[in-house]
Amino acid sequence: MKKLYAILFMLLCFQCIYAQKGWSLICNGQPWYDTQGNPVQAHGGNFLIEDGIVYMVGEDRSHSWHPDVNLYHSRDFEVWEYDGKIIENGVTTPELGTTRMIERPKLLHCPKTGRYVIWCHYEASDYSASEVGVFSSERITGPYQLEWCGRPLGIKSRDCNVFTDNDGTAYFISTIEENQHLGLFRLSDDYIRPLECTVLMRGLRREAPAIVRVDSLYYMLSSACTGWEPNQCMLSTSSSLTEGWSPLVPVGDKTAYDTQASSILTLSKGRHTQYLYVGDRWKDPDLPQSKIILMPIGLKDGKCDFPYTETFRLNFRKALVRP
Ligand code: GAL
Repeated sequence: MKKLYAILFMLLCFQCIYAQKGWSLICNGQPWYDTQGNPVQAHGGNFLIEDGIVYMVGEDRSHSWHPDVNLYHSRDFEVWEYDGKIIENGVTTPELGTTRMIERPKLLHCPKTGRYVIWCHYEASDYSASEVGVFSSERITGPYQLEWCGRPLGIKSRDCNVFTDNDGTAYFISTIEENQHLGLFRLSDDYIRPLECTVLMRGLRREAPAIVRVDSLYYMLSSACTGWEPNQCMLSTSSSLTEGWSPLVPVGDKTAYDTQASSILTLSKGRHTQYLYVGDRWKDPDLPQSKIILMPIGLKDGKCDFPYTETFRLNFRKALVRP
């Protein structure tokens, strides 16, 4: 009898270990640490998944006003290895850290050239420059070189993001003309130059735009312009990127759970697709302690299910989440 209990106990243990395998614990509201024990600094950025590895790029806010750009990678979203500063004040370009600062760096991998390209907000300390910076590198880990900086197609541009459509066409989207409208810039096939700009959400003063495609419908989350203070996240959808965006509808609570969107991540494996909202909880309590917030969201039938999730388990390989 004792033997039977021992076998049953072992089976139970195996089952528990097996059930935990591949499941990472994501805890929102707490700092994330890299494998060297340092707080992860990658704000306003995005994620790129290649060969089962997720790369995370973002602002290093440990010195507040002039962020360098950090790169990390992980195989499970829980253990993050630091790859270093891929754009650095005073090193990558002389004006970085003095007359220009970077916000919202977004990483793309161009299939045509094989190069890694970063688009970002390239700004003066009083936000009067309203420029973009475009950097590229042969390797994801750098060194990145400045391709160009300035106003895209002569248009004043601030808060920004990127989006790559199913056909590989990449877009840069930003808050344009003194925060009045959104500008959707279609990019050249090397992802370096803007080719044309379509004005979206004219006069609606939206920023922190994040676009994702679900089948043939595009979903865009965005916020109002209230600086570092969070506000109501709004959803708009369209079957075309350049026209027909639906009126804004609120999602989540009044402050997007004290966050501002930085990207929407799509994980897919076989039949499973899981969307993750990536936000920044700015100034928590100060800029260096801003947190990266990751929450599962549902995108279906033109609606966004955006509940608050403080902790959850994520199976990156299987594209599954559970409590
Ligand atoms: C936010 C924006 C951030 C940063 C901040 C400065 O609205 O999303 O990227 O520019 O304003 O106040």
